[in-house]
Amino acid sequence: MPDREHRIDEHLILEKPYYLPTGNEIEIAEAAYLNRLPLLLKGPTGCGKTRFMQYLAWKLRRPLITVSCHDDLSTSDLVGRFLIRSGEAVWNDGPLTLAVRKGAICYLDEVVEARKDTTVVIHPLADDRRELPVEKKGELVTAPDEFMLTVSYNPGYQSVLKDLKPSTRQRFVALSFNYPDIELEARIVETESCVDKKMALSLVKLAHMTRGLKDSGLPEGASTRLLIQAGKLMCSGINIQDACRVAVTEALTDDPELQGALEEMVTSLF
Ligand SMILES: Nc1ncnc2c1ncn2[C@@H]1O[C@H](COP(=O)(O)OP(=O)(O)OP(=O)(O)O)[C@@H](O)[C@H]1O
Ligand SMILES: [Mg+2]
Repeated sequence: MPDREHRIDEHLILEKPYYLPTGNEIEIAEAAYLNRLPLLLKGPTGCGKTRFMQYLAWKLRRPLITVSCHDDLSTSDLVGRFLIRSGEAVWNDGPLTLAVRKGAICYLDEVVEARKDTTVVIHPLADDRRELPVEKKGELVTAPDEFMLTVSYNPGYQSVLKDLKPSTRQRFVALSFNYPDIELEARIVETESCVDKKMALSLVKLAHMTRGLKDSGLPEGASTRLLIQAGKLMCSGINIQDACRVAVTEALTDDPELQGALEEMVTSLF
């Protein structure tokens, strides 16, 4: 095992993040927090899950500790490990343990990517025991009331194999996210990129058309994030066609046929 020390992604968010609610997700998340219930966010890429977590952490005035999960993520990566320092074994808390000790919000992004044995470590933390066994250290850390566990995943491209185990998912209050309706999404694009309302609406219409290409083999249509990126390029003087090509078409697919279909959509709209 290499002697690696991971940088922990921890933020205390002081400035109110821009987050436009699409329903009563803020009230539900606050009620979950007050009842010490863990939260699962599901939804497609670029629909606002991370932004929502930043907003929630700001609103609850808790530090936000984010872990991007991947298939190599071990229990030690989450909980912690001994590292050798000047010949001595020194304990290093992982991001999950640190979040529990601090009473922070821990956000496990794309949790289904993590190995199954890793996911199990959150079980006693995600039910009413609210405790984390730090086995290597022989310690049981009890979470303070302020600690909140949140996880996210994208059900769109999940295979059955990668689904969460029922015993894991049935510990969470689940909030489903999706792209908001046209008006709201256009407001987000306008605010985040500085294009005018008319252009924001056209970009959202383009996104809706691309989201209809699922049956033709496009796994996911253009996300709010991509629209914002296209808008930002336009604000920097890139012409509409080029901005849509590099921020939307090329970002969505390498398939020449699908690219052709996407380009036609752009031409028909602008
Ligand atoms: N409801 C919203 N209010 C404000 N901004 C939003 C909202 N939804 C999306 N956005 C914008 O879209 C961008 C992408 O959203 P975000 O990064 O939160 O997506 P995500 O759901 O976490 O995606 P991924 O699953 O790929 O991580 C944000 O940076 C923000 O600019
Ligand atoms: Mg995210």
